[in-house]
Amino acid sequence: MKSILIVLSSLLFLPLLFSCEPTAPEVVAEPPAEPSLKSAFIDDFMVGAALNNGQINGTDTAGLRIMAREFNTITPENIMKWENIQPAADQFDWTMSDKYVALGEKNDQFIIGHALVWHSQLAPYVEAEQDSATLQRFISEHIKGVVGRYKGRIDAWDVVNEALNDDGTLRESVFYTTLGEDYLRESFSLAAAADPEAELYYNDYNLWMPAKRDGAIRMIKKIQASGTKIDGIGMQAHYSTVGPDLADVEAAILAYAELGLKVMFTEMDITALPNPWDLQGAEVSQNFENSPFMDPFTAGLSDSMQVAMSERYSNLFKLLLKHRNKITRVTFWGINDSQSWLNDWPIKGRTNYPLLFDRDFKKKPAYDAVMKLKE
Ligand code: XIL
Repeated sequence: MKSILIVLSSLLFLPLLFSCEPTAPEVVAEPPAEPSLKSAFIDDFMVGAALNNGQINGTDTAGLRIMAREFNTITPENIMKWENIQPAADQFDWTMSDKYVALGEKNDQFIIGHALVWHSQLAPYVEAEQDSATLQRFISEHIKGVVGRYKGRIDAWDVVNEALNDDGTLRESVFYTTLGEDYLRESFSLAAAADPEAELYYNDYNLWMPAKRDGAIRMIKKIQASGTKIDGIGMQAHYSTVGPDLADVEAAILAYAELGLKVMFTEMDITALPNPWDLQGAEVSQNFENSPFMDPFTAGLSDSMQVAMSERYSNLFKLLLKHRNKITRVTFWGINDSQSWLNDWPIKGRTNYPLLFDRDFKKKPAYDAVMKLKE
């Protein structure tokens, strides 16, 4: 019966096959674009990732595919830090940064420069400098040199990174102890002069802490009062499944937006591992011994932690969506779990699960949980 029907119905179409009408060119339907973070959140904020050396020099092809498909903004994880890009006063090394910028241009991404003035991963010649005029000259040459080279090509800069202590006072870095607090205004002013079109940001961890938040506001108000350009604030967002309290994060978003700043989440990751001594934030100089208790998921993440991770990411993104008119960018600190710095900080050699892609570059339940908010 079925075959008779098929024969009959094909007979019905026979005249079509033999009609003399000119045939229209074959139209091949575009395959529907694969869903991605960047397209899901296109009306809300940019979504990005920090790129490591393997991605920038092209060897991590799987990571690069995800980068192009999922993200519309990129940040260099290490290659533009002072010790790498200007290891000596008379020596700039542009090898990796040129590749990084070309990569972002090829993929039509919003390109971030990270980080101009930071106490960590600093070149030894700067670290050791105690003469204020010389140190000032080093800062000026560094900012002019690096920002100037990529004028009109790097869209935005983390000008100053981590200048504050958690209590809101200024960190005793070589910059502060030698130059006093004016180094902050001066750095922004030099960056603005080197590329007047680039957006300029202050970036730090624990910016949700009320005392640190208030310190940041005091510092930024002074920079603004001097008439110096500052466009945004980057909350690093190295979080855990239990902290910080999202009410504190929300209060910080509102307070920074009140200053007229763009608010960004610039180094997002959520640790799945026990936290030695309740450490908060991302002080890179803090390091601890490994132990089986501190590294419980070497054979895979437990189901309960997988769920906790998805719920945490979901709740965080719900908050970000609520304030989408204040938040311009959310950047993850890496692409897949095996590449995250949190496998080595604050304890070296652990197995962590802080990002949205697993060790095989597959989307994790946390990825689906975030995307589900946009269905
Ligand atoms: C980290 C990198 O991810 C590591 O590879 C490196 O060893 C140390 O720095 N705050 C920042 C980032 O602003 O630049 C840091 O990145 C993490 C904390």
